[in-house]
Amino acid sequence: MKIEPANTAKNANFLLCKNKNKITKKTKTMKAVITAVGGFVPTSILNNKTISETVETTEEWIEKRTGIKERRIAVGKGTSDLAFGAIENLMSNYEVEPSEIEALILATATPDHILAPTASKICELSGLTNAFGFDMNGACSGFLYALEMGATMIESGRYKKIIVVGADKMSSIVDYEDRNTCILFGDGAGAVLLERTETEYGLMKSILRTDGSGTASLVVPAGGSKFPASMQSIVHKKHFIKQDGSFVFKKAVAAMSSVSRDVLISNDLDADEIDWVIPHQANLRIINAVSENLNIGNEKVKVNIDRYGNTTSATIPLCLWDYAADFEEGQNLLITTFGAGFSWGATCLKWGVMRERKSQKSTKTANKRKVLVPQLS
Ligand code: COA
Repeated sequence: MKIEPANTAKNANFLLCKNKNKITKKTKTMKAVITAVGGFVPTSILNNKTISETVETTEEWIEKRTGIKERRIAVGKGTSDLAFGAIENLMSNYEVEPSEIEALILATATPDHILAPTASKICELSGLTNAFGFDMNGACSGFLYALEMGATMIESGRYKKIIVVGADKMSSIVDYEDRNTCILFGDGAGAVLLERTETEYGLMKSILRTDGSGTASLVVPAGGSKFPASMQSIVHKKHFIKQDGSFVFKKAVAAMSSVSRDVLISNDLDADEIDWVIPHQANLRIINAVSENLNIGNEKVKVNIDRYGNTTSATIPLCLWDYAADFEEGQNLLITTFGAGFSWGATCLKWGVMRERKSQKSTKTANKRKVLVPQLS
């Protein structure tokens, strides 16, 4: 058989395996691309003033040391409701039907229940009748892990449309008498639709990491299998998040900086080829230190921590949703995260063509505001 040069258009899909002296059909490179985004934040606002009336701190200290001005609090709702809000927002803004979705991956550290999976409830609420759903907990890196999982499922060729949602009701595990943590966290959810593409757009290589030696530095000690709920665990407030803030801070800066450098190298990109950085929103000083280490100007770094605080699994998709209008086809995004576990990672993606938008009004709720009254202690 005569073999044409492999780089001609005609034979671009065929690969010659010299050793076995036979031709194998090489499938086109299949990638996953984000084609729609959605977000949801509750209307109730907890601002720094209210916190400063509850614990020993000041509005100025919180804003200066964290960059946070306010966070949203879900009153009378669970994580499934937040995730449903984000998916409803996505579905109402883009031309996609719930029945088209084949899988739902929920990243959360605050499931509705330990059992059953929160994803099941979300599938039911969102009418995802043809999808299977599952929860995964990668703490503040959960959405990035879930995105990698969803992308891999699509690249395998077995799935075409997957929703990845990051949602957390952090107010359910925050002790509002602990000034080390109550200043930081908020509630929210963000969702993306991942679809198959054979274009140059979409997710590139990721680097994901975990280090279990960090467990004690950022943990909800009780309520799981190791220390189930008991009278003692409640009395000693073991169901709330505990952290060694300054240790976590230093680890986050070092890990996010180095994994971002590594992922740029693995994707053959220079820092100046990155159009937008989407960092996990834990502390503005962490974000600034990482962008400085990467030598990427602040004008390219997306920040919404001032409005939402740290929403754990939701920070990255909320940022994608908040700033989607700024991203242009073909632009390179760098996403990087760090969280409990420790868990961290980074990925790059080339922003693609979004699904057609529905012409009706947006259900975006971020601008609706209702200031929470100080009744938290
Ligand atoms: N208000 C006023 N003072 C506070 C305070 C608060 N809310 N929290 C801590 N302080 C005090 C401390 O008691 C300490 O006082 P001292 O110097 O008299 O001992 C001082 O401020 C400095 O404490 P430190 O813990 O070093 O503050 P910090 O600058 O590191 O800021 C955090 C604290 C929690 C905001 C910061 O460490 C942080 O954001 N860490 C990372 C958290 C994180 O990313 N968590 C989630 C990971 S996904």
